[in-house]
Amino acid sequence: MQIPIYKEAIEIISQDLRSEIEAGLLAPSASISPKFLYDPLGSHLFTAITLLPEYYPTNTEKNIFAQYRDQIVNAVGTGGTLIDLGAGNCEKAESFFNSLKPTSYLAIDFSVEYLQDALKKLEGKYPHILMQCIGMDFSRQLTIPAFIAQSRRTFFYPGSSIGNFLSSEALELLSQIQKQSIDGGLLIGVDLMKEDSILMAAYDDPLKVTSAFNLNILRSINSHLGSNFRVEQFRHKVIINHSQNRVELYLEVLENLTVSWPGNSRDFKKGDLIHTENSHKYTIESIKQLLKNAGFKTTQIWTDPKDYFAVIYAK
Ligand code: TRP
Repeated sequence: MQIPIYKEAIEIISQDLRSEIEAGLLAPSASISPKFLYDPLGSHLFTAITLLPEYYPTNTEKNIFAQYRDQIVNAVGTGGTLIDLGAGNCEKAESFFNSLKPTSYLAIDFSVEYLQDALKKLEGKYPHILMQCIGMDFSRQLTIPAFIAQSRRTFFYPGSSIGNFLSSEALELLSQIQKQSIDGGLLIGVDLMKEDSILMAAYDDPLKVTSAFNLNILRSINSHLGSNFRVEQFRHKVIINHSQNRVELYLEVLENLTVSWPGNSRDFKKGDLIHTENSHKYTIESIKQLLKNAGFKTTQIWTDPKDYFAVIYAK
């Protein structure tokens, strides 16, 4: 059966896309929003990243989920609606289906084609769970449409994607989640600050999968904007910014060049950087404070032995 998609949200995306991309490319320090990383190929490349031994977040989070599953399920409670923010291949949420026993599952992602494929497979396996999906850019505004059950909601936001937001934006998103959780809460994965060598390896792996993932954003932009970026004129670059507690991802321009697209163009000089993502790393204290500021009253926290990553249920 075809999974219904919330059409309106998808149209909102395509209307604003070009102007958002253009504004980023024309800014004095050029940038591209990380959501454009996750086109169909990008989504697969990211899945490949999560399989790299150097990319510790996915495995560490998985181990925390496995080790503390009972405690987590106890904290969250069973039933209700499970809302998966940035669902991707829906695998992480699926690992909770048998224990959390949601009545319905709402998968939200920007890359909706990838999502639909994933949901089709899940529907066959879990016929008793109502599956719904929305193509939505919740990095701007998270509004759960009225047709989604008004019963208790558990927002699921794993993978430390919250780290991609500036703290003001993270606060805004977490507040929107808190307001729409209807007696439920938020189960979130948060990456913690650690040594540079571990971060560097995770974001610049020797197989260059991360490099391919980051460079692919240029092709994703070409298809949205009709621009003529050539991947071979750029290189993946990682900077650890200690004062801002974050890993910064860029594409470095390898030669002077002009990128054009219908209606406009931009000159780049050798060495210029296009910013593609920030990955903020929190401390237990800083994330607790942020959740408190967003309106959550209580938190339960689970970590791994090395304190690389935290899984938090906030209510
Ligand atoms: N948001 C993820 C993270 O911060 C995704 C990611 C991993 C990523 N490697 C990347 C984004 C490289 C851009 C470039 O871990």
